[in-house]
Amino acid sequence: MQAAVLPIENLRIMLVDDDENVREALTEILSRRGWLVEDFSTAESAIAALKRQHYGVILADVNMPGLSGMDFLHLARESAPDVPVVMITGYPSIDLAVESIKFGAVDFLQKPFKAEELEIVIRKAAGNAVRTSKPGDKTRAIGTLPEMARKRLEDKIKELSILHTISESLDEVSEKDDIFRKTMDIAQIIADSDMAFIMVVEHDNGKLVVRASSGYDSQEMAGAGFSLSEEPFRGVLDKRCYSYYMAKGGSLGGLVPDGPRPVLLAPMIINREAVVILGLVGRPGGAEISGDALTLVLNLTAKASLKLENIALSENIFSSIIGALNSLINALDARDTYTRDHSHRVTRYAVEIAKAMECPQEVVDSISFAGPLHDIGKIGVRDEILLKKGGFTDEEREIMKTHVVRGEEILRPLNLLVSEKAVVLYHHERWDGGGYPKGLAGCEIPLVARIFSVADTFDAMTSTRPYRQALSLEVAKEEIVRCRGTQFDPEVVDAFIVSELLKG
Ligand SMILES: [Fe+2]
Repeated sequence: MQAAVLPIENLRIMLVDDDENVREALTEILSRRGWLVEDFSTAESAIAALKRQHYGVILADVNMPGLSGMDFLHLARESAPDVPVVMITGYPSIDLAVESIKFGAVDFLQKPFKAEELEIVIRKAAGNAVRTSKPGDKTRAIGTLPEMARKRLEDKIKELSILHTISESLDEVSEKDDIFRKTMDIAQIIADSDMAFIMVVEHDNGKLVVRASSGYDSQEMAGAGFSLSEEPFRGVLDKRCYSYYMAKGGSLGGLVPDGPRPVLLAPMIINREAVVILGLVGRPGGAEISGDALTLVLNLTAKASLKLENIALSENIFSSIIGALNSLINALDARDTYTRDHSHRVTRYAVEIAKAMECPQEVVDSISFAGPLHDIGKIGVRDEILLKKGGFTDEEREIMKTHVVRGEEILRPLNLLVSEKAVVLYHHERWDGGGYPKGLAGCEIPLVARIFSVADTFDAMTSTRPYRQALSLEVAKEEIVRCRGTQFDPEVVDAFIVSELLKG
């Protein structure tokens, strides 16, 4: 049932590169695909080997000492005209592409390359060679070289143009779901398929879940889950290799409604792990996806993978920074026994109030994210002021007030949302305009900050301090109600009263 679209088994690859590291890396990647690799450090030794051995594909570096890559290309075309040559370069240009292809190369690879990209190029080169030439048919290949070269050049320019359009389209989006949707839409156009879907691995529940689909009843398909151990998904994920075959009607858990239909499952690889599958389903009894379309779709998934990997990397860096800042906050809270866990507690209280106000989820999310960091600016306040047990002098009070602006400055490079920054910068503003740092009043103060202000005060009153015991819930409530409309937003106070906070 399952069959690869291109004949690439038992492939013997000649690799010519003077750089030992490149040879080692390429040999490892290609061998992992089950291909036999013979590597050569000079063009001269490779030419000698070409006279005694047949290869399925030749990979050759453009820049080599002694005979250059282009010299090698000429000689290789003479010695083995039926063997496709792919040039490797660190500095690709249209000129180089034109020159390589004019002299008989079928493609070129740019360093550094990803394993998937390398595989695509090799599969394409090997597949084309089988389709267009017979091993040992030297006269035929040499005789038709100019025509073949012109055709290859045209195809290459067309391919580069489509790839450029694909890159531009993907560059327009930066959210994961938008990348999924765009990849799926472009792939569907390239392969002229009837239906398409994107599935994402969810390790938590051991499932592959449909994140986007096209051509299906979307309500029916959205969120559909499949076991990670189910074939053919498991094979695609484990081997990190596409699968293309004619599928029976009703297979793939209903993703192939009737049949037989051609199906392509292409993995997207992030941090060397296949975590997304693009699925394309052709028309019943429809034409198979062409080799060129397949190459373009696999290029598309490789580019989308790179984009997703960059997002994952940014998210990792971002969460590492936030983790480090949270550690700082914990350290800051720990400096003062009496305010231990204050930041996280206040955040919990603020979330309760926001829920009681039936705030949109974005408001709750901003409070949850930025809340623990609201006093991060206190890192810059000296211990003798921060830990002072008595009242502040005017000067000390002014120094303490600077923590909101300092906090905003510390977090500025992280490009937080406006509402997240507002938690940090405005949580000491007052409804009557008497707060700091700007003396904003009423609804000039962002809602998240008005909520945070009540939560912050409630925690201060219900925690034990060096100079007094914790107040009871009832007393704290009375004090907050007393400040309704002066220090606090009346609506926030009303929500606070009915929230879970006062229920024990
Ligand atoms: Fe504060």
